[in-house]
Amino acid sequence: MSKLWGGRFTKETNKLVEEFTASIEFDKRLVLYDIIGSIAHVKMLSNQKILSTKEKDELVQALQEVFEEAKQGKLEFNISDEDIHMNIERRIIELAGDTGKKLHTGRSRNDQVALDMQMFFLDKSGELAKKIVELLETFINLSKQHIYTYMPGFTHMQRAQPTTFSHHIMNYFWKFKRDLERILEFNLRANNMPLGSGAFAGTSFPISQEITANELNFSKVFDNSMDAVSSRDNALELLSILTSVMLNLSRLSEELVLWSSKEFNYIKLDEAFTTGSSIMPQKQNPDVAELIRGKTGRVIGNYSALATTCKALPMAYNKDFQEDKECVFDTVDTLEVSISLMNEMLQTMTVNKDVMKNSIYSDFSNATDVADYLTTLGIPFRIAHDITGKLVRNCQERKKLLNQITKEELSQLVPDLNSDSLDNLFTVLDPIECVNSRSSKGGPSPNIMREQINCALKELNDF
Ligand code: ARG
Repeated sequence: MSKLWGGRFTKETNKLVEEFTASIEFDKRLVLYDIIGSIAHVKMLSNQKILSTKEKDELVQALQEVFEEAKQGKLEFNISDEDIHMNIERRIIELAGDTGKKLHTGRSRNDQVALDMQMFFLDKSGELAKKIVELLETFINLSKQHIYTYMPGFTHMQRAQPTTFSHHIMNYFWKFKRDLERILEFNLRANNMPLGSGAFAGTSFPISQEITANELNFSKVFDNSMDAVSSRDNALELLSILTSVMLNLSRLSEELVLWSSKEFNYIKLDEAFTTGSSIMPQKQNPDVAELIRGKTGRVIGNYSALATTCKALPMAYNKDFQEDKECVFDTVDTLEVSISLMNEMLQTMTVNKDVMKNSIYSDFSNATDVADYLTTLGIPFRIAHDITGKLVRNCQERKKLLNQITKEELSQLVPDLNSDSLDNLFTVLDPIECVNSRSSKGGPSPNIMREQINCALKELNDF
């Protein structure tokens, strides 16, 4: 089959070159965007009297026919036509004859592919934003149920201070909410229509980018035709935002893996979201969480691959840009399924409240509260820290917890405490009291948690 660009060539393309340079295997998923873009282009050309009304009608009809074929999976693609743009153009020429040969008037594949990708970005960022909103709703629902579900909080993976499951889960709400804001801002910034930039130097045809933009619901048109075809910063920005989402999913996955282990036993994942072992009959593995964590590597890799590809490219278009698609498609696909699965996994898991609560009664995570209390008696915090440290050490040597020591022992270890202070110190030692008293903004005390959840609900309603 002769190439659509074959005029100046006397030789056939080497077969391996054909395979090496073709992108149809992966850019075929842009088919509907490409056709919609072409319909807008043709309408604009006719409006500007570059095409007659009759030619426009013939082309639009052929494009609509190909659109239906594509939707029904009947459109055939051929590697010798290299990419989605030329595969569609070939089919239009088959259907509309010589008029079909006018489709590519006043444009290049460089601005065409930029347009297709912009349309893809806008669609997918909108869909992903919706999925994140659903995940945010799940965090709020979970957290509403667990305002009184006490659990240890960790730093350095060592028990640090008691908190609640509600507090822990809402921490993820805010992380993902910032990602959602990033996506929505991206969506506004990426709303830029590149068609009409030609290969890079615009065109001498009296086109109107505004008409095309209007037809395609874009709010802006690129200001510089060279910039329009030589930029991949939209792709990189989306990949970077989605990397942030994936990093957050990965950290949450890691916690689900830990929490569902026998050692923690804080949660039980629903069976439908776990898998078994081919050798160990008892196993129930958190594969989904592990794979989300695992796939984070390739999502980071996709960003890194595209950034590296773009790093030293001269203006304007370079074939290297064709490499953007697989990075973008793979990341978008990975995120879509990962967010959905995470959401369902969270909705279906069982939270072992009692196990969580029991564990805050078996450690020294109330030590900060002892030091804080001594500070309220006028002891400088650094000295209070030292006294409490010695108290912890003494208890550990005698295999006791802070709340298991007697008043007499306490008054020996912490001198100069009057009887009221001793009583108060005992109240402070209760881990639940530790949580309830943490009522600084953003803290885990139930009242403050309720405020936080209400505030989150309000913010969510604004989206
Ligand atoms: N398949 C190409 C890509 O994805 C389309 C643009 C080709 N342009 C060119 N001058 N070869 O980038």
